[in-house]
Amino acid sequence: MSANATKVMLLGSGELGKEVVIALMRLGVETIAVDRYADAPAQQVAHRSYTIDMTDPAAIRDLVLRERPDLLVPEIEAIATDELLRIEAEQLATVIPTARATRLTMNREGIRRLAAEELGLPTSPYRFADSLDQVRDALREIGYPAVMKPVMSSSGHGQSVIRTADDVGPAWDYARSGGRVATTRVIVEGFVAFDYEITQLTVRAKGPSGAVETYFCEPVGHRQVDGDYVQSWQPQPMPDAAKAEARRVAEAVTGALGGLGIFGVELFVQGDQVLFSEVSPRPHDTGMVTMATQRLSEFELHARAILGLPVDVALRRPGASAVIYGKFDGGPVSYPGVAAALGIPETDIRLFGKPIAALPHRRMGVAIATADDVDTARQRADLAASLVRPQLASQSG
Ligand SMILES: Nc1ncnc2c1ncn2[C@@H]1O[C@H](COP(=O)(O)OP(=O)(O)O)[C@@H](O)[C@H]1O
Ligand SMILES: [Mg+2]
Repeated sequence: MSANATKVMLLGSGELGKEVVIALMRLGVETIAVDRYADAPAQQVAHRSYTIDMTDPAAIRDLVLRERPDLLVPEIEAIATDELLRIEAEQLATVIPTARATRLTMNREGIRRLAAEELGLPTSPYRFADSLDQVRDALREIGYPAVMKPVMSSSGHGQSVIRTADDVGPAWDYARSGGRVATTRVIVEGFVAFDYEITQLTVRAKGPSGAVETYFCEPVGHRQVDGDYVQSWQPQPMPDAAKAEARRVAEAVTGALGGLGIFGVELFVQGDQVLFSEVSPRPHDTGMVTMATQRLSEFELHARAILGLPVDVALRRPGASAVIYGKFDGGPVSYPGVAAALGIPETDIRLFGKPIAALPHRRMGVAIATADDVDTARQRADLAASLVRPQLASQSG
């Protein structure tokens, strides 16, 4: 809170940002948390907070000029990334990892073309389409089953699997309703029957010589339902060849995006073959497991990396995370079952402090557990998450 303080401003203040803020504050950094609604998780722990429309370029610029942060850290995709490019060009603040990376990754087309067409990385077959006719053309080339997603969307919104021609119309309608912005553009991808999928957490940080180096966390396995993560674990066992290939793909894509910080590189694995899916240039939701498993969580790694400090990606103990959902509309929310959950060995929970829950489901917390082996840790995390049952506070009296 002094004139020479290092200031970091987060654009997006969800549960991932909350942990980044805590990690930064432990390193003595002054933090500013921004979101589109008040009392968002990271706003509850930051030094100062603001509630603005982050898709409004002028609103972002005004705030940057007012606060003059050293670092600007996007936590979500839905922000005015064109304005970040201008802010970076004018050297008003350093954008993490880079303004270009935030712009490329907010749109499935930008990152897919970079990975597949410029870097030559293996991906599912894909086509982009702007109309139902173009979708049908794409499907003639790609075949069934396929997956359709709005180019600007996240957490599975607007995404569906197309198994037969009958699915095409409903999938198109759903994609148009589920996108983040008013565009009809979709990606049609071949459905990959992967053995398992992983998040390859990859850190670009300064090494001992001061040059940027790439560090790889142990692979995080995860299970998704309707495009949303429900459980993750670390380490995901992998054959040596697939593990090396995952790191090669992750290094190529994060190197092309550049800058400092952690990246969540999503990969599909079939035998020794690894397909690039997408990448978040920031901590990844499935990486919440690292709060239990690593010496430094993905949030602490991100904080250190963006500040130019050394990192350590060592795994400490096998572990798992399981999501605690709120499956109703409104608040305030109470959390029966916390005591029972915390009675499970080597188990912890994080409640995000979201003011309200939402239908069909909103992520309200996560259970994290460790054990001698991943399977036991998964059982512990699942049990703990199932014991915590968020409900409207008025119901419990
Ligand atoms: N081409 C595909 N083949 C098989 N499963 C897929 C494919 N694309 C996505 N999925 C599944 O859907 C999940 C969410 O898709 P993703 O592209 O990561 O979207 P989001 O940006 O919403 O996370 C993936 O983690 C995977 O489980
Ligand atoms: Mg994803």
